[in-house]
Amino acid sequence: MRNIAILASGSGSNAENISLYFKGSNSVKVVLIATENPSAMVIERAKRLGIDHTIFTMDQMRNGAFLKILMTKHVDFIVLAGFLKLIPDNLIQAYPNKIINIHPALLPKYGGKGMYGNRVHEAVIANGEPESGITIHYVNGQYDDGAIIFQARCPVVISDNAETLALKVHELEYLHYPRVIESVLK
Ligand code: GAR
Repeated sequence: MRNIAILASGSGSNAENISLYFKGSNSVKVVLIATENPSAMVIERAKRLGIDHTIFTMDQMRNGAFLKILMTKHVDFIVLAGFLKLIPDNLIQAYPNKIINIHPALLPKYGGKGMYGNRVHEAVIANGEPESGITIHYVNGQYDDGAIIFQARCPVVISDNAETLALKVHELEYLHYPRVIESVLK
């Protein structure tokens, strides 16, 4: 069994979708949903799903206390799903090539600090891009910078705004992220 932890900072719809995908799986188990945001909706989702959750501070992530929680839960793979803070080096070293992230655009474009959620979609539309999509990548010490594992695309049409584009991108995320996690873990 591979035990995964999902980290999310906000709504957590991807965290829920991934958890439901692996519910009943005999090879992958979501053992923890973790957030640094005490008011994140993902906490309610974790409760509803019956999955353990934890709220941590970024200090705890940097000083090793969060790592201890992961060890206690026997976590061997970390999935970022709308987690908006930089992962500190100690965690990356403890989980080499075992932390992945999803970004709501076609990296290397529209990534980096401050590029998250609707800000990404607004920038894509403002630049008149004909397409956008998702990028799933390994996490290194910089925002949206690690090796790319998978990308999927969707068209951007003239009538799109950040909200409609976000819907299309979320559909791609829901379809692909669980399957990519599954194949990386094989
Ligand atoms: C997702 O679209 C994810 O790609 C994005 O945040 C959203 C979270 O939605 N991540 C980033 O922008 C990271 N830079 P969710 O909380 O409903 O899963």
